[in-house]
Amino acid sequence: MSSELDSAWVRAQLLELGTELGRPLEHLHTTTSTNDVAKEASKAGAVHGSCFVADEQTRGRGRRGRSWLSTTGEALLFSLVLRPTGLVDPSPLTLAVGLGVHQAASRHVGAALGIKWPNDLVFERRKVAGILVETELTQDVPSALVVGVGVNVSATSFEPELRDIAVSMGMLGSDVTRERLLVDILGDVSAWYRRFVDEGVGALLEPLRRVDALLGKRVRVDGVEGCAIGFDDTGHLLLERSDGSPVSITAGTVEWV
Ligand code: BTN
Repeated sequence: MSSELDSAWVRAQLLELGTELGRPLEHLHTTTSTNDVAKEASKAGAVHGSCFVADEQTRGRGRRGRSWLSTTGEALLFSLVLRPTGLVDPSPLTLAVGLGVHQAASRHVGAALGIKWPNDLVFERRKVAGILVETELTQDVPSALVVGVGVNVSATSFEPELRDIAVSMGMLGSDVTRERLLVDILGDVSAWYRRFVDEGVGALLEPLRRVDALLGKRVRVDGVEGCAIGFDDTGHLLLERSDGSPVSITAGTVEWV
């Protein structure tokens, strides 16, 4: 598999499909982080839907200051600039993007993938993809959202520290190329994004429940422990504590207990 993405093919496919997101598409072989590139571009006026994809990141990052590691050409690494009209809450937006990534990846993997609220695509307890949404501010006012997506596509092994927590689509039997996957993800994320913007978070809840990797599992989120019982009407995670009382979690990192 080439370490250089065939971005001309991707552009042609996206043009034919007429996707809302992914156009224009800029391909970088190496960069620090596609989220940094998208943020800089959004400052310089990049239009809604602009996409920045890289073969390699030297400082890829995840949520909460964690790093996102990948080997050149083995992961799909891209970021989108979104300029929704009106104020859009980035938390449910992550869920909409997650549904698109889940739908596209599931077409290429026989195994059942799930969404680990709020931003991970998982197979069993191992991460296949992660999403990082950041808000770009202009004079303290949100002017764009940058949505970064990293998918483990064709890695055949991981560093020891990732071995138990990461898995690639290739390890799950898929031979999808990064190009095909990018086209599919941008198509599906465009559709879910539009649904979310037009209909609100309510349109995401039932689809999300069907792929909820946490449902019925004991988890801990920033010190709060309980059994995951689904989502509330705003897309927050619902836990049931051992005394039977429900608690709604607005943000945080979920740990399996
Ligand atoms: C997470 O799991 O915490 C989110 C990971 C997001 C990784 C992607 S890779 C493309 C984009 N650029 C980055 O530096 N991060 C995101």
